[in-house]
Amino acid sequence: MCGIVGIACSEIENIGKMIRRCLERLEYRGYDSAGIAVIRDGSLIVRKGRGKIAELNRRLRFDEIYGRVGIGHTRWATHGKPSDENAHPHTDCRDTIAVVHNGIISNYLELRENLEARGHVFKSETDTEVIAHLVEENFKNVRDLFEAFRRSVEELCGTYAIGLISIYEPSKIFFARMTSPLIIGVGDGMNMIASDIPAVLEYTNRVIVLKDGELGYITPTEIYIEKDGKPVNWRERVRVISWSLDMASKGGYPHFMLKEIHEQPLALSNTLSGIEMENVRNICSLLAKADRIFITGAGTSYHAGLVCDYLLTELAGANVTTFIASEYRKYVNAINDSSVLIAISQSGETIDTLMAVRTFKERGCKVIAVSNVVDSTIPRESDMVIYTRAGPEIGVAATKTFTTQIMVLTILSITLAYMMERLREEEYKYLIRQLQELPSLTEKIIRMHEARCMILARYLKNRTNAFYLGRGLGVPIAMEGALKLKEIAYIHAEAYPAGESKHGPIALVERDFPVFFVVLDDYYVEAIVGNVMEMRARDAYTIALAPRKYVYKFAKLCDYVIDMPNVDYRVAPIPYIIPLQLVAYYTSVMRGLDPDKPRNLAKTVTVE
Ligand code: G6P
Repeated sequence: MCGIVGIACSEIENIGKMIRRCLERLEYRGYDSAGIAVIRDGSLIVRKGRGKIAELNRRLRFDEIYGRVGIGHTRWATHGKPSDENAHPHTDCRDTIAVVHNGIISNYLELRENLEARGHVFKSETDTEVIAHLVEENFKNVRDLFEAFRRSVEELCGTYAIGLISIYEPSKIFFARMTSPLIIGVGDGMNMIASDIPAVLEYTNRVIVLKDGELGYITPTEIYIEKDGKPVNWRERVRVISWSLDMASKGGYPHFMLKEIHEQPLALSNTLSGIEMENVRNICSLLAKADRIFITGAGTSYHAGLVCDYLLTELAGANVTTFIASEYRKYVNAINDSSVLIAISQSGETIDTLMAVRTFKERGCKVIAVSNVVDSTIPRESDMVIYTRAGPEIGVAATKTFTTQIMVLTILSITLAYMMERLREEEYKYLIRQLQELPSLTEKIIRMHEARCMILARYLKNRTNAFYLGRGLGVPIAMEGALKLKEIAYIHAEAYPAGESKHGPIALVERDFPVFFVVLDDYYVEAIVGNVMEMRARDAYTIALAPRKYVYKFAKLCDYVIDMPNVDYRVAPIPYIIPLQLVAYYTSVMRGLDPDKPRNLAKTVTVE
C-alpha cells in the first residue's frame, strides 16, 4: 500500500506544503507514518515520523519547507513496525539520496547483506532503505546518477513504485514502476509523480499512467520514460482527467465516507448512463460460451461478486464459482481456455486480484475487469473491461463503488439471462426500468432514513458484537453491512445466512445482542420471520430492513424496523446496503472514531 508523491517545480515554492497536500489525498493508502524530503541549497532536508499527516505537520512543520524538488510518502507498514525510523523517505549513508517506495522488495535481505558487507550502515528495518544504498553504491562506480538508478532497479525483485531524489542532480526525480501503481502529472513549469490521480488534481488534470517495467525521470520541464532501455513516446499517452478537485474533496461533509454515501444516487445514474450496451453484449457473448465463470475480488468487491454469482446462477443458469482473490491457487488446475474470470476491483490495483488475473490469463482464461479507475492495472491486463463511474472514492470503506459495481454486474447478469432466453423480453425491460429508478430511490432512502440510522447508531455504539443475517441476495448484503460496522466502528460483526445462525452463532446471543435481518425477497419472508422469533426468544435486539409491504409484520416482531421500498429482489441489493452504510458511519462517529481512516486498514492493498 503506501502513497508516494514527487514534485519538481521551476521556481522555489512552498514545496513542503504542496507535498503535504498531495499526501493528504493519498492518506487513504496508509497512515502509519509520513515524511517529506526536499533538496535545498545542495543538501537534503528530511522530516518524517510516526503518525498521521496532520499531526506530523504540526510537529515537523512540513508546511515551512521551501524548495524546487521534493518527494513525500504516507505509509502502511509492511517491513518494520510503524516508527519514526521506519518512516519514509529513506536515505543513503551520506544523506545524498532520498527514496520513497510503495510495494515490497522481496530480495531486500540479500541486497542488504551485500551492502552491509561493503560498509553501508542501515538506519531502519525497511526493505526500502536498500534502494538508497544500492543507488549510492552503483553511483560510486558509474558516476552517472540515472545509470546508477537504472542498474539498481535491475537488481530489485518484487513490487515497487519508487521516487528518488539526490543532491547530485537536484532538479530531477527518478521513478520506476513494477506492479505498484504510479502516474505522472504533467503540469506547466512543474511535473509530478504520484501513486494515484487524486493526489495531483490540485495542480494538473493531465496524467500519464505508467506501465510495469517503465522507469525514467521528471524535471520541472522534462519527462523521460524508458522501457527495456528504449525511450517511450509518452506524449500520446497523456490523458485529460475529467475528475475535478471538488470530487476529490469533502465538499462540506465532515467525512469523505458520508459524502460518498450521499453521492450514490449520482454515481448510480452516471454509471447507468455510461454503460455501453454493445460492450455489455460482447462481454455477455463471451460469458455465454464459457463452461465455467469465475468471479473474484477482495473485501467489498468480493461481496459485489457474490451478488453477481447469485444473479448469474439463478437467472442465467450459469456455472459460477466465486472466490476471495487471495485464494486463487485452489482453482489453478480447474482453469482452461473455456473459462472466464470476472475480476472486480474498484481501484484496479489490489494485488491479490491482480495475481489471480495474471494466473488465470496465463492458463488461457479470458478476463473481464470491473473497475472504477480507468487505465489502472487490472483493466489494462484484462481482455474486456466495464467501468463504474462512481468518481474518486477516498474513504477507506467502499460505499459508492460497491453500489455501482452491483449496478454493472446486475446489467451483465440480466443481459446474459436475456441473451440465453432465460429471461423474457418484458421481464428484462422491467428489470432495466427498476434499475433506472434506483438513483431517485436511493436518494429518497438517504433522505428518509438518515435520522433513523443515527438513532440506531446510538444503540449500537455501546455494543461489542452484532450479527447480520439474510437469505438469498440478502446474504452478501448482510456480509457487506457487517464488514462496514467491523472496519470503521471496530465492533465485532458477523454475517451468516439466516438459516445457518442456528448452527453455532446463536450460542453467543444474549440479552440486547444486536441482530440485523436483511429481508429483500418475498420468497424468504416466512423463513426469516422464524429466525427473528428464535433471536427474540433469546432476548436479542432485533432490527429488520424489510420492504414496505411487510413493515407491519416485522414491526410487530422486531425492536427496530427500517422500511425499505418495494423493489424487485433482483435489484434490491443496491438500496438495501445504504442504511447499513449509514448505520456503520454514524456508529463510528459516535464512538469518536475517524471513519475515513480506520486503524490498520488502507484503501488500496498492493501487498500480498
Ligand atoms: C481494501 C479496502 C476495501 C476494498 C478492498 C478491495 O481492503 O479497504 O474497501 O473493498 O481493499 O479493493 P478494490 O480496489 O480491489 O476494490
